Amino acid sequence: MAEMKTIGVVGGGQMGSGIAQLGVVHGFQVWLLDQDPQALARSADYIAASIRRLVSKRALSQAGGDDALRSLHCTSSLEELRSSDFVIEAIVESEDVKKQLFRDLDKIVKPSAVLASNTSSISITRLASATTRPHQVVGMHFMNPPPVMKLVEIIRGADTSDETFTITKTLAQRFGKTVVCSQDYSGFIINRILMPMINEAFHTLYTGVATKEDIDAGMKLGTNQPMGPLELADFIGLDVCLSIMRVLQAGLGDSKYAPCPLLVQYVDAGRLGRKRGIGVYDYR
Ligand code: CAA
Ligand code: NAD
Repeated sequence: MAEMKTIGVVGGGQMGSGIAQLGVVHGFQVWLLDQDPQALARSADYIAASIRRLVSKRALSQAGGDDALRSLHCTSSLEELRSSDFVIEAIVESEDVKKQLFRDLDKIVKPSAVLASNTSSISITRLASATTRPHQVVGMHFMNPPPVMKLVEIIRGADTSDETFTITKTLAQRFGKTVVCSQDYSGFIINRILMPMINEAFHTLYTGVATKEDIDAGMKLGTNQPMGPLELADFIGLDVCLSIMRVLQAGLGDSKYAPCPLLVQYVDAGRLGRKRGIGVYDYR
């Protein structure tokens, strides 16, 4: 296994920013790309502020913080990712858009590189089919927020090689994460279990069983979770939750995965959660 030095991260939203931060803090050169220049600028600011906070908390030395900041390279050109040893995509949760990105990356990135997806639910096997290197395609699913959460779920597509799995696991461990491994079925482990709970919380609200505050306080205090399910949905992004429910419904073929009409309506209304300032709750 060749030494890994350079990581490409595509998508500088909540997940891509956190993943790029992990990369630079753990000694990698990171090329971060977003198609939206404003999102890219926000991402760079977020990473710089997080690194400064780590330095001020003495979780990172001043020299380590400076090195990390120097290791971050922001770009809007996919060509710049050509020398990456490992690319992680964290763009919108859409199979078609992700497939097009994998097709493009496959042409640009060196043949030995691994192409990983941070998808929450989409088939790794199908994403891999857009490339000429399906044995080097893998799911590397970070939890939100990536710098804080201790888990990475690795998903093996039908053709993911043992070497690709080992490289991915080693990288996750260098980031200080614990790894669980899932076979490639819709939602994998985490979202197959988490999203129906969140969807049920929407049904509980939709059918008037309780207020949003009582649903969240009940689940938070009653089952010892750091956030109630509706607060967590806002944190994840309601668009992401809806996309995952649709993948579960289509992939597992059971009506129990049908998204709650209230979740659909909020997304239609642009109430996407914290990132938009309004979701189930109003943060403005
Ligand atoms: N980036 C970096 N660091 C962050 C952060 C972020 N976005 N948010 C919080 N932190 C750090 C803080 O700096 C703080 O660090 P110190 O303890 O060293 O000071 C620590 O995390 C705790 O933060 P806060 O005190 O501000 O807030 P908190 O105690 O309320 O914790 C939380 C915030 C970690 C997000 C916590 O509420 C939590 O664990 N929530 C549940 C998150 C969760 O379930 N995530 C998984 C979602 S599912 C998923 O990700 C998969 C999918 O595909 C949808
Ligand atoms: P986000 O909306 O915060 O960010 C997505 C970013 O990707 C945006 O900045 C957008 O401009 C950019 N983008 C979209 N299409 C692009 C393209 N073709 N090329 C380059 N950039 C592009 O989304 P997010 O919450 O960070 O989620 C990203 C991925 O991570 C999704 O697949 C999601 O399912 C997964 N994920 C999300 C969470 C979560 O809690 N939000 C947790 C784990 C995994």
